Amino acid sequence: MPRSCLLLNAAFLAACAGPDPLAGLDGQRLFFDNCAECHQADGQGIPNVYPALDGNETVAGSGADVALVLIIGRGEMPSFRGALDPAEMAAVINYVRNAWSNSGAPVSAAEVDAL
Ligand code: HEC
Repeated sequence: MPRSCLLLNAAFLAACAGPDPLAGLDGQRLFFDNCAECHQADGQGIPNVYPALDGNETVAGSGADVALVLIIGRGEMPSFRGALDPAEMAAVINYVRNAWSNSGAPVSAAEVDAL
């Protein structure tokens, strides 16, 4: 098994055992790397092109809905399945759900994986 898979497994085990499953994964960094080119670093998006994630109803709603957008993709937005693993998706989801004016309960890597 490649070393990266072993590291990934370690991350999953930590996600199952620890009280802070996402420690070590930087959701903000993941957002800047994967989402900000469209949704913008300040979460305001670009009017009529990319929806704002700040104050967004879907983002504020259920973490599972946000996870489904990332897994399936939506309209012009690509799917991140394969590009981000469940722990990374959870980290970036938890970032956008609590960045700017947003405040939402966290999702776990296991919940994302189950979808
Ligand atoms: C290539 C540009 C692009 C990238 C990169 C991108 N998105 Fe999107 N995103 C969009 C577009 C366009 C939509 C609106 C799709 C539609 O409704 O037709 C959207 C919609 C969404 C929605 C749903 C918003 C709503 O109002 O229903 C969420 C949540 C979201 N994106 C989160 C993210 C996250 C998190 C990332 C990074 C992991 C990301 N997006 C990366 C373009 C992008």
